[in-house]
Amino acid sequence: MANHCNVYIPTEANLDLCAQLLREGNVVSVPTETVYGLAGNPLIEESARKIFTVKGRPFIDPLIVHFPNVETVAKHIEINATVELLAAKFWPGPLTMVVKKRDSIPDIVTAGLPSVAVRVPRHPIFRSLLERLDFPLAAPSANPFGYVSPTLASHVASTLGERIPAVLDGGPCELGIESTIIDLRDPANPAIFRHGPITQEALTQALGMNIADHTAGVLNNKAKAAPGLLTKHYSPRAQVYLFKCGTVPRRMREITHQQTQAVVFNEKPTFEPLSKHTFWLSEDGCAETVARNLFELIQRLDQQGFDKLYVELSADHGIGKAINDRLHRAAAK
Ligand code: TXA
Ligand code: MG
Repeated sequence: MANHCNVYIPTEANLDLCAQLLREGNVVSVPTETVYGLAGNPLIEESARKIFTVKGRPFIDPLIVHFPNVETVAKHIEINATVELLAAKFWPGPLTMVVKKRDSIPDIVTAGLPSVAVRVPRHPIFRSLLERLDFPLAAPSANPFGYVSPTLASHVASTLGERIPAVLDGGPCELGIESTIIDLRDPANPAIFRHGPITQEALTQALGMNIADHTAGVLNNKAKAAPGLLTKHYSPRAQVYLFKCGTVPRRMREITHQQTQAVVFNEKPTFEPLSKHTFWLSEDGCAETVARNLFELIQRLDQQGFDKLYVELSADHGIGKAINDRLHRAAAK
């Protein structure tokens, strides 16, 4: 199944090759500081359509458009003072802003919405690709629709590898979870659509005002503000069960006697003996490390054939909110 022959190391020649593939309307997988993306030209409808069909993504789920800098963003959206302030503080980086679009962005990219999600990424490989092009790049996470997001080139190669001409290998993604999405359609009423590496606390401090959290409504499928954020998402094949931060699953002893069940802690447990079904996402519980390793470990355990994963939740603040959001969606039936 795995097709690794189209994984390219990011030499100048391979970056030129990927840029040429993109100019010809193909889609290519690129590393970003968050997760691997599936990039294509958003200004050509046929190329944007390819992104949806390769992922098996419904056309109602709009795409994020990535730009090399804030000046090029301004050509396609209506910039306001809040966008400028957050861009100066957090771009390039893992913050996506939902803003009013101009006509240059085709409807297929935004699922017909009058707004578009924009981001200036900081990953050097993604940036050098953007700098070679005279158009921005639309890029959702490069996973089949509904599955866990890829944080390694091999994750993309083994799922979408046969459907795309190239995967640029940038090694493991630095942050490991997708960008924070903030709604700035009305700058007087900002709202978080998706928790991510730029925390709600950091955004509140930067704006000096309260920011509504619209992610809970999305999680209950009540708010349709961010149409693609379905309750069931980021789902591995294995069933995921969650347990409270700082505890042990109630059935711990029973689980470790089952061949196909695994327990995932945030930090290395202090109790002995550790069974071969016990895993941890960091040595010391550092939340950034937990986020970086989360999707990789879940996909590895899925591939190893575990069919029940008992995963520890994080403390519900800072990046822990983003981790818990992904875990709740992965556990949703
Ligand atoms: O870190 C990331 O954001 C990664 C990397 C590749 O940049 N991309 C990513 O894209 O996570 P994706 O497509 O998997 O998730 C983007 C989400 C969509 O599911 C959708 O809910 C929301 O962004 N979105 C996009 N455009 C929107 C819009 N105009 N209004 C509201 N939500 C929007
Ligand atoms: Mg995604």
